[in-house]
Amino acid sequence: MFKGFSSVWTPVLRVNQIKRRPVAVHLAGERLVLFRGQDGMVGALLDRCPHRGAALSQGRVTSEGHIECPFHGWQFDRRGNACYVPLNPDAKLSLLSARALPVREIGDLVWVYTSPTSQDIPEPIVPDGLVNPDLSRTYVQRLWRCHWTRAMENMLDSPHLPFVHRRTIGKQLRTRMTPSSRMEITWEDTPYGGRAEARMDGQEGGAILEYFKPNIMVLNIPVPGKYLRIHALVVPEQSGHTHLIICQSRNFARWKVWDPIFYWMNKRIADEDKNVVESGGVAEVPPAATECSVSSDRATLQFRKYYYEELRASGD
Ligand code: FES
Ligand SMILES: [Fe+2]
Repeated sequence: MFKGFSSVWTPVLRVNQIKRRPVAVHLAGERLVLFRGQDGMVGALLDRCPHRGAALSQGRVTSEGHIECPFHGWQFDRRGNACYVPLNPDAKLSLLSARALPVREIGDLVWVYTSPTSQDIPEPIVPDGLVNPDLSRTYVQRLWRCHWTRAMENMLDSPHLPFVHRRTIGKQLRTRMTPSSRMEITWEDTPYGGRAEARMDGQEGGAILEYFKPNIMVLNIPVPGKYLRIHALVVPEQSGHTHLIICQSRNFARWKVWDPIFYWMNKRIADEDKNVVESGGVAEVPPAATECSVSSDRATLQFRKYYYEELRASGD
């Protein structure tokens, strides 16, 4: 289960995308159903009824906040406990549970832990820009036809900026770049992942990338006296499908009227990446030695190391 992406926390959707109706999502090859219980909290169950395997997401949520299977009407609460089995008053409910996953609502996002255990799991490590109450946030959600590891690497990759984003966020680099320019990437391991800084021709003050394992990149954009960060949350759905959630956080231009402008800008940047990343096909990133790499690939190679040494073998 959750092969190659097991026992990790990941955002899956925005909190306001889950109301009382069941919502089906794919996550790392599994299908989940998300819904709100009577207490308003989100539950995440495998979208497979333990009775005969029907998709719970095709059922309904009852007035008690239970999800009712569309096939024989069994009901489960948001923790997966069977609450009602029609026509079988003697059924041992404690033996008939659906499989629930740990779930948290943090900031604007719903996070799911990719293992149906709740024993001794760590809490999610959430970047400040996703929860800081003094910031405005604008979200963009896109579907990319690629393996999530290609999308994740793209987010950690600085040398593509003056090419893919030559008209947007890479414009400055493009202008300064000469035929003999050199980009140096420093990488520092952190308790949650890593921190990369890219310098072209020794010039300081560029953007700083932070990597939060397994699938979040935070870009700190230096604007004097201001807080501006772009978060890329790279969510594996199923083979060849990656759900990208981009969140821009800022402490300026906070009026709602700015939202569509930032939305448009972030969507444009994400779509510039989409074309290039999708052109590489839907396979996962290969082992480092299989592709040619150079020193400005430092950050992406760090991700590849983590993926191959820790994450890829996880799950069953
Ligand atoms: S398959 Fe769900 S109640 Fe029978
Ligand atoms: Fe990009």
